[in-house]
Amino acid sequence: MVRYLTGFQPTGLLHIGNYFGALRPAIELQNKGEAFYFIADFHALTTIHDPNALRELVRGVAIDSLACGLDPQKACFFRQSDIPSVAELSWILSTVTPMGLLERAHSYKDKLAHGIAPTHALFAYPSLMAADILLYESDIVPVGKDQKQHLEITRDVAVKFNERYGSIFKLPIPEIRDEVATIIGLDGQKMSKSYGNTIELFLEEKVLRKKIMSIVTDSTPVEAPKDPTSSTILSLYRLFATTEQVSAMETDFRTGGFGYGDFKKRLFEVVWERFAPMRKLREELQAEPGYVDEVLTAGATRARQVAEQTISRVRNAIGLVH
Ligand code: TRP
Repeated sequence: MVRYLTGFQPTGLLHIGNYFGALRPAIELQNKGEAFYFIADFHALTTIHDPNALRELVRGVAIDSLACGLDPQKACFFRQSDIPSVAELSWILSTVTPMGLLERAHSYKDKLAHGIAPTHALFAYPSLMAADILLYESDIVPVGKDQKQHLEITRDVAVKFNERYGSIFKLPIPEIRDEVATIIGLDGQKMSKSYGNTIELFLEEKVLRKKIMSIVTDSTPVEAPKDPTSSTILSLYRLFATTEQVSAMETDFRTGGFGYGDFKKRLFEVVWERFAPMRKLREELQAEPGYVDEVLTAGATRARQVAEQTISRVRNAIGLVH
């Protein structure tokens, strides 16, 4: 059985870009193989320094993922830090990781450019990620394009380790989601927390409505025909509406007589309806705090079984045990 593994870094409220870009594809894969999904809380320490904030974020990611359909009966869902041997493996891997490999990492440079302090953890981020992937003997790692280089580093590190110590690790195959899936944000750029243009899934009705009404448009008057091809409203509407609804909106764009405000209202309706069942499940999960902990604890038990086998093979191979 193919094992899929991916990590979700807890960065903030789940938005439409995360949902269509990462969460929903992962949820679909849970039916296709053995899924190992974890909340990357060790990684989160590189940027989140408030313990309460971290606790809240981790809990939020867990609840949101479950509410959206991550099924703990199908996927092994756990917290990265519940299996501390990943940190041990990360250290061991760092002994075969050339400095140059990490120095070339775009993601590290991007983070510095965004004003994040250059700590050793930020620099070593790819080593920990390699440890995640190799510890759980992953076959396929579904990630966004921004993680492509991290996967290449993981494979390089695995090869180096195997060259030195024998074939211990299997080489994971990245499954990079293509750019077709780029979700456009409120201002017409790619939806991303760092651009401040996100639409969160679980906002209150009023707040969501206001956000959607704030989508940036041009100033074509109500009566005039509008261009359906370059519209942010339509690009979001296509994610949610039926084919008939989409063609109706496209026709109304071309014909004129409808303002952007009207189109935004239609968009709001479909977004609100689409997430209604998830919203309901999320409320139920929030009312039952013990459940989420149970799920993550059970996930950790399963993950630990795999991790312990790998780490003991590794220790043995490098001479830490006889
Ligand atoms: N770095 C990934 C991200 O920011 C999260 C992550 C951590 C991850 N460890 C991983 C993804 C292992 C895939 C595999 O999205």
